[in-house]
Amino acid sequence: MSRPYYIAGNWKMHKTRAEAADLAKALVTDLKDGKHKYLVAPSFTALETVGTIVKGTNIMLGAQDCACEEQGAHTGEVSVLQLKDLGVQVIILGHSERRHIYKEDDLLINKKVNLALKHGFEVILCVGELLEEREAGKAEAVCERQTVEGLKGVSAGDIARVTIAYEPVWAIGTGKTATPEDAEAIHAHIRKVAAKLYGADTAAKILIQYGGSVKPDNAAALMAKENIDGALVGGAALKADTFLPIAKFA
Ligand code: 13P
Repeated sequence: MSRPYYIAGNWKMHKTRAEAADLAKALVTDLKDGKHKYLVAPSFTALETVGTIVKGTNIMLGAQDCACEEQGAHTGEVSVLQLKDLGVQVIILGHSERRHIYKEDDLLINKKVNLALKHGFEVILCVGELLEEREAGKAEAVCERQTVEGLKGVSAGDIARVTIAYEPVWAIGTGKTATPEDAEAIHAHIRKVAAKLYGADTAAKILIQYGGSVKPDNAAALMAKENIDGALVGGAALKADTFLPIAKFA
């Protein structure tokens, strides 16, 4: 089964509009002939600016989160309707920083996944274990639970718009990458879980990204693994110099 590679930059809480525009322009120019699927996810405040730059290119526009309701009294939240209005195509959900800093649980994340899909977005559902969970031998079980709970209510038709990102929490922003072998073991397990939910043929088409200290010098080795279909890049996505070699890996 050949799947496309999907390279995404999660800019997290970085960049003013001017800084975001500079980076987006550089990526548009240099990825024009890129062979993979691409996404940038700036902060909410830069979505409109970056959206006008990537519109009509091979780079999709992503948001880093959304509210669990369409609209209403939700101070501080941003709704799918507002994101659609800005031209957002993809929403990252369940990022470990949402789970662990802002205490989002599987139930809330699942609500967001279904809402985003209902409104026509693609979703990147992030899963991943804490260091103590890995050390206790629970990495597979945690990722399985987050995948199954996160996808509750997602139909076989809608799963085509979902990418799973495996981001071991201990590897995020720490410089500690999972070895390609360790990452592949979890990716293969997630695909098995997806096969149980949607059947083997559908599961074979699902893209599973790896995230956690992906850098130009480790990207190709990770992506060489059978079940690793791309990368969700944080720190290295903040500069064209470090994102482009990952995005253009051969
Ligand atoms: P780093 O690449 O900085 O480890 O971040 C990964 C991540 O959380 C992407 O969503």
